[in-house]
Amino acid sequence: MRELLAFVDGDRLRADIEATAAFGAVDTADPDARGRTNRTGSAANRRARDYLSERLREAGLSVTVDPVGNVAGTWVPDGADPEAAPVASGSHLDSVPEGGIFDGPLGVYAALEAVRALQDAEVDLDRPVTVVSFTEEEGATFGDGLVGSSVATGARSVEAAHALTDDDGRSLGEALSEIGYRGEGTVDPSGWDGFLELHVEQNTVLETAGAAVGVVTTIPGLTHCSVTVAGEADHAGATAMDDRTDALTAAAEFVGDVERAAVETADELDSAAVGTVGSLTVSPNATNVIPGRVRAGVDIRDVTAEGIERVVSAARDSLARLERDRGVQTTFDRHLDVAPTPMSDRLREAARAAAADCTVESIDLPSGAGHDAMRVADATDAALLFAPSRGGYSHSHKEWTDWADCARATEVLAGAIAAAATDGS
Ligand code: CO
Repeated sequence: MRELLAFVDGDRLRADIEATAAFGAVDTADPDARGRTNRTGSAANRRARDYLSERLREAGLSVTVDPVGNVAGTWVPDGADPEAAPVASGSHLDSVPEGGIFDGPLGVYAALEAVRALQDAEVDLDRPVTVVSFTEEEGATFGDGLVGSSVATGARSVEAAHALTDDDGRSLGEALSEIGYRGEGTVDPSGWDGFLELHVEQNTVLETAGAAVGVVTTIPGLTHCSVTVAGEADHAGATAMDDRTDALTAAAEFVGDVERAAVETADELDSAAVGTVGSLTVSPNATNVIPGRVRAGVDIRDVTAEGIERVVSAARDSLARLERDRGVQTTFDRHLDVAPTPMSDRLREAARAAAADCTVESIDLPSGAGHDAMRVADATDAALLFAPSRGGYSHSHKEWTDWADCARATEVLAGAIAAAATDGS
């Protein structure tokens, strides 16, 4: 597969990512920073999709758009069985407001560049290769993220996705119609032989290790809980310190308890457990009133179910203790559970072998965030590769991956796709 490397064209990849960065480009004070706002259904989003569709057709791929706007281009190599399940690769084109230029587009255009390199190198393949861009991965505009991949894998219905609305009350179905991407085709990961997604790491593990490529072992599971702490609102001046039931001082202890539980769990299980109390709503939220009620949103993640359960039970224990020690009333509602998703051993092995072929150093690591690969893993074998993020910045104009690192990760992706599309390899 070494001969393939010479055909991965870093400049061609860069041109596609830079072209996409121009759609919704954000002015930043820093001349070295590049930001973009590419909201699903916006004019910038239509232009990014049009550009992709043109590039796919130009490379000889047949393009399909499904009812939620997922775009897939399929290439049937000479000598491959057109009926064989394709190997798919891609990511997303949408961004968070003022997000970075690599989060999403790198994975889409690395997949396309891999196809172009495979074509140019005239590598013999047994299976078609599909390049895919999923709709509304970020959930910045419609819904809570992974919208296109969850519809494609059947976790969410087309109707439910179309009914999602943005802040202005426009539905996703309307938005897709307006930009011309409410298609009638089918993008169905259960018909794929496997899926490989290249994404920026959004952390500093690769940078610290000096590795060019990360091969994700597991996408962590995630639990969201809503907590209420009820005390008694009262006058901040007229109520003695020993005569208060302050909901916020109790909630503050809860915040610390969740943090401690995550640190201890990660330590004891040698896992990636994290726990965050990311939102607090204090009422009545007035400087001269003792807080009577606090609502807290808790986010708990780990690569093992056991780690998540430990932090959840520590959070419950904390509330029980606060009821005893501080006289508050509490409620605990665990309303979202996503199990940890292990990545495919077969595709991880293909990625590691491709990295070795490219003499690129790769390391195994867990993913910090969810990605489309997490949803696709419900339907077929999935793998997730990371390219280094300078300083770990993402969802920010500070997000940066060196062009040479983009190209090297794409070489690894191309090698892994080639191996996956070759039967008996
Ligand atoms: Co992303």
